[in-house]
Amino acid sequence: MTGFFITLEGGDGSGKSTQARLLAEWCENRGREVVFSREPGGTELGVKLRELVLHSTGYMTPRTEALLYAADRAQNIATVVRPALERGAVVIQDRYIDSSVAYQGAGRVLGADEIRALSMWATENLVPDLTIVLDLDPEAGRTRLDASRTRFDRLESEKNEFHERVRAAYLHMAAEDPQRFIVIDAALPPADIHAAIIARIVDIVEATAR
Ligand code: TYD
Repeated sequence: MTGFFITLEGGDGSGKSTQARLLAEWCENRGREVVFSREPGGTELGVKLRELVLHSTGYMTPRTEALLYAADRAQNIATVVRPALERGAVVIQDRYIDSSVAYQGAGRVLGADEIRALSMWATENLVPDLTIVLDLDPEAGRTRLDASRTRFDRLESEKNEFHERVRAAYLHMAAEDPQRFIVIDAALPPADIHAAIIARIVDIVEATAR
């Protein structure tokens, strides 16, 4: 078995966790070990970093924010993701480098190249095998969140233009690298989204099972 690293990306409220669960079931039914991970907050240290980056009050500079996400990522990749991939597991991760490029690079306007370079350094250059972008109009994502949340994190609380920049950055990255990315309309029913994901990964997952 060869490990396989799948990341899920998209705006807030795009349904990533539902799809992560459906995808995990599908992989497990094919006899694969599945490891779920998430950023920020996939490790014990990461849980503390997550609280800091999402819920600190008072001004946080964009560079501080970017470094906190990168620190969380370094810990997660070294202690959770790489060991799992080395065992041959399928790792399904909620958010990764592309979140930083979209939110800090585009949303906070720190620039895609520098933010990507920071994360590549943090992870010793671990690139996902497949990245699924659940694309959703930010207004629609907001409505979904309003229905399910009582408190909003620092990023969710940003204005609509911020989330429009995030969305445009994802679509740009996906258009630049169609080998790694698949973009799916997050407004589709969950079962249709799942089917689109499976159509894309069935061959790859079976090839890595040998
Ligand atoms: P997440 O826990 O995935 O929240 P949600 O369930 O709303 O998708 O992520 C928390 C927030 O962190 C989310 O608003 C996106 C943001 N984020 C970044 O800004 N940069 C990053 O590198 C990551 C991983 C997340």
